[in-house]
Amino acid sequence: MTLTAAIVPAAGRGERLGPGAPKALRLLGGVPLLVHAVRALATARLVDLVVVAAPEDGVDEVVSLLSEHRLLDGEPGVAPAQVVAGGATRQDSVARALMALGADVDVVLVHDAARPLAPSSLVDAVASAVRAGAEAVVPGLPVVDTVKRVDAAGLVVETVDRSVLRSVQTPQGFRRPVLQEAHAASDPDAPATDDAGLVEALGRPVLVVPGDEEAFKVTRPLDLVLAEAVLARRRAAGVVT
Ligand code: CTP
Ligand code: MG
Repeated sequence: MTLTAAIVPAAGRGERLGPGAPKALRLLGGVPLLVHAVRALATARLVDLVVVAAPEDGVDEVVSLLSEHRLLDGEPGVAPAQVVAGGATRQDSVARALMALGADVDVVLVHDAARPLAPSSLVDAVASAVRAGAEAVVPGLPVVDTVKRVDAAGLVVETVDRSVLRSVQTPQGFRRPVLQEAHAASDPDAPATDDAGLVEALGRPVLVVPGDEEAFKVTRPLDLVLAEAVLARRRAAGVVT
């Protein structure tokens, strides 16, 4: 039996969002960001189990929250979840969740709790690209802004050719051995901001598939305003979230 697990790093503080609860527990449409993210993963066709890396002192709270939203035990069409304590960096949180996986998991997705509105269709698209043979898969979108390289004095060195750039999102998907090898080889003192970066450092190929605008990351206060608007539009269209 080969299973697909989805790891959810959710142990960050959300400093750029401003004072308040840890970001994963902040509310969107009255529901914590983490609950939205876990629901999208757990209801994706190709996900068999979800592992959340919670804030170290918030494991019990996250377990109760998932239970309250019927996302803990698994139901028809909803994969079960488990919760582990996250670490000091995102990379460390992912590594801790990886250690909790059973031997029957051979595909691992990693998805930020901070991307609550990533659709299940994107989750399945990434998982199926891995199942089709890619070792590492990331969703990416064209860069919309003009991007300039600057020097320490703030002077422009050059305008970068954006046609060859992609803004990458999560969920990112991996064959389990490559992700584990990448984490084992990583430098804890120079943590990566995404998992594909660790795989790239091994010199292994990472495939970019089309991303989804709604998979944007909630980082700053304005992102929450956008997320509320997207959610309101979904609810008005009768999409249950
Ligand atoms: N994350 C984590 N463990 C950490 C730090 C981050 O699991 N020690 C998670 C966050 O919870 C988030 C994801 O990694 O779901 C992406 O990180 P980011 O957007 O940077 O979230 P925060 O670190 O919470 O935000 P900030 O950097 O503004 O403090
Ligand atoms: Mg962070």
